[in-house]
Amino acid sequence: MAAIYSGTEATLKTLAYQHILSVEQFTPDVLEALFGLAQKMDRQVALGRSDSILTHRIVANVFYEPSTRTDLSFQAATQRLGGRVITTAGGVHYSSVTKGESLHDTVKTIACYSDAIVLRHPNRGAAREAAAASDALTRAMHRPTPIINAGDGTGEHPTQALLDLYTIKDRFGADIDGLTVGFLGDLRNGRTVHSLLKLLAIDRCHVKVICIAPESLSMPPEYVEFARSREMPVSQTQDLQGVMQQVDVLYVTRVQRERFVAQKLDDLAAQVYGLPYENLDGQRKEALRPVAELNAAQEYLAARDAYVVDPMMLSQARQEMIVMHPLPRVNEIPEEVDSDDRAYYFRQVQNGLYIRMALLAAVLDCLG
Ligand code: NCD
Repeated sequence: MAAIYSGTEATLKTLAYQHILSVEQFTPDVLEALFGLAQKMDRQVALGRSDSILTHRIVANVFYEPSTRTDLSFQAATQRLGGRVITTAGGVHYSSVTKGESLHDTVKTIACYSDAIVLRHPNRGAAREAAAASDALTRAMHRPTPIINAGDGTGEHPTQALLDLYTIKDRFGADIDGLTVGFLGDLRNGRTVHSLLKLLAIDRCHVKVICIAPESLSMPPEYVEFARSREMPVSQTQDLQGVMQQVDVLYVTRVQRERFVAQKLDDLAAQVYGLPYENLDGQRKEALRPVAELNAAQEYLAARDAYVVDPMMLSQARQEMIVMHPLPRVNEIPEEVDSDDRAYYFRQVQNGLYIRMALLAAVLDCLG
């Protein structure tokens, strides 16, 4: 069965039993091989063929934050390849997490039952922490249990970036030199744009990036510097209309409401006490909360409607461009845009399945 995937395995062997924590682990060669394999997965699914290269493999989906696409596409990917998925009945909030169990202990436990763990967590760096926990256990296990980062707070979302780059190449061809990619919306908190910006730079694509966001939600400097250090030009603006004509890809994101309160708490702790929020005692933490919640609500309302990509706005864009969005959308792309040929977000959803099938096959070393 694995024979149909031959030709890709040598390069993809480097992913076998590796944690997938950041896009920084990928090289252009590995990306090319992975995308080639994803194409084969696409064909297999289209032909209605079911493969069984993940037979006897168990993937654990552990989601501490809501998810539709990432969770279900990893489940579908595993099952399409003959593997099985385990997860705590009723979600992670019905696990011992609610009794105060640490991420370390939870991960070590789940690693005893599974061959890979797909983890989504609200804290930046949680996937790395989970990888350390899994490694600590590995000594007692037959094989390491890789952690796949399915989004760690405002940090990264590497598998989304893989499917996003795959989608761009699916549309424009493998050579995307010369394209202009616009990132729009909450670039401060959106982990998908953090990962994709870095991945474009890592893939040595000669694309130009324009970050379009209100000042309070602009792309964090560390990502801009990462791209520029790899000679990828990145400019910043608040004026969507002004750049609409230039973009070949407009990657839209929602305003990440759920991140605002934590951010305000951090800002206030620094202003009032000159300390990180997490270093404050319980009383001080409580004192800051009402002000943080009020500021967060005001800022969210101001940012929410800052940019809407509606048919009127799209009428100013190129005919050959595409509109992407990791989804879920709130009100930044009205549904009437879906029938426009340039709307590519459900293509991204579809491609997420093939990319995750390819990634699981590589990480679980099932390519023969
Ligand atoms: C994104 C996420 O969770 O980061 N969704 C996804 O995985 N497709 C985007 C978002 O939540 O806005």
